Amino acid sequence: MKTICILFGGRSSEYDVSLSSAYAVLSNIDRSTYNLLCIGITRDGRWFRYDGALEEIRTGHWCDYTETLPTVALDLSSGKLRCTAPDGTVTETVCDAVFPVLHGKFGEDGTIQGMFAVAGIPVVGCGCTSSGVCMDKAFTKSIVAADTGIRQAKAVIARAEDAADMDALRTKCENALGYPMFVKPSAAGSSVGVSKVKSAGQFSDAVTRALAEDGKVLIEEAIVGREIEVAVFEDHGELFASTPAEIDMGGSEFYDYDTKYISDASGYYLPARITPEQTAEVQAYAKTIFHALDCKVFSRVDFFVTETGFVFNEINTIPGFTPISMYPKMMIHSGMTYAGLIDRMLSATFA
Ligand SMILES: Nc1ncnc2c1ncn2[C@@H]1O[C@H](COP(=O)(O)OP(=O)(O)OP(=O)(O)O)[C@@H](O)[C@H]1O
Ligand SMILES: [Mg+2]
Repeated sequence: MKTICILFGGRSSEYDVSLSSAYAVLSNIDRSTYNLLCIGITRDGRWFRYDGALEEIRTGHWCDYTETLPTVALDLSSGKLRCTAPDGTVTETVCDAVFPVLHGKFGEDGTIQGMFAVAGIPVVGCGCTSSGVCMDKAFTKSIVAADTGIRQAKAVIARAEDAADMDALRTKCENALGYPMFVKPSAAGSSVGVSKVKSAGQFSDAVTRALAEDGKVLIEEAIVGREIEVAVFEDHGELFASTPAEIDMGGSEFYDYDTKYISDASGYYLPARITPEQTAEVQAYAKTIFHALDCKVFSRVDFFVTETGFVFNEINTIPGFTPISMYPKMMIHSGMTYAGLIDRMLSATFA
């Protein structure tokens, strides 16, 4: 029987989303096929083996009693995970694969993927370089532009030194993009630090907010269109693109953090309200982008649909996996079950 290591929690701002995703994954994984080694990572980055109730993961209480849990260390030489109980008892486990059910920094950005690659343990999903590139929207845009020619929002890239002369930066963006503009951190998620800038007076604050999340920001022309998402699944080189979904923002100005996670005004259309020809087109774009970025096993590819066609927005290499998340919803709509999807993702990871 294969042993799978499931990682949850972590040091990113998306810790809570990870707990919900992990709860759903762990509730659906076939325990008659796989041994599980569950590792919870606290918000401050401590790793513990967790064998307790799944419900405590969902509620966040799993980490209330960390002094009773074994700590975990990865031995890079042997590739074994070493668990040390509070009484000093050590157990070592060899895992056949690691599933990082983590979102954002130190989970989705290639760091965890690189660490396990060094230890020789396969990781479910994209590898180190691909994860790092996809986490950084500016890098992603360069690869997609060079490799695919698929339309994207025009953008200006700025760093702290450019923001030192805010007037010059604003003039450059006004000339290149016009209003409204979208300002966003290059590497972040969940719309944290994203602003819509409608006039000169809002520019400086928006750039400062985005720079607080990442040292590099993207300032983009605003695309007028509806938001369309596609789930892509890969198994040994063969790509499958799901039924596309459409985000219904319930009247919000854009898909910001509140609209995503707090207000209940937003929803979705599945399938998206597009023609069969547009469906085929956006599925083909999603596969082309997945391939250009060397993605593996799964990713969610996000677009706008405008009056003149599709515009690529961004890719998520570890999208939300909660029962209400779009990736599993789209795959289920395309004919899979949630449990079957997890099983396929794991089997696609083994050589
Ligand atoms: N150029 C643009 N034109 C119009 N709307 C935009 C543009 N860029 C971003 N948005 C809006 O802001 C939202 C968040 O932006 P984006 O998806 O790039 O960031 P994110 O924080 O990475 O989100 P995620 O949590 O999906 O990773 C988008 O869903 C969209 O509503
Ligand atoms: Mg997004």
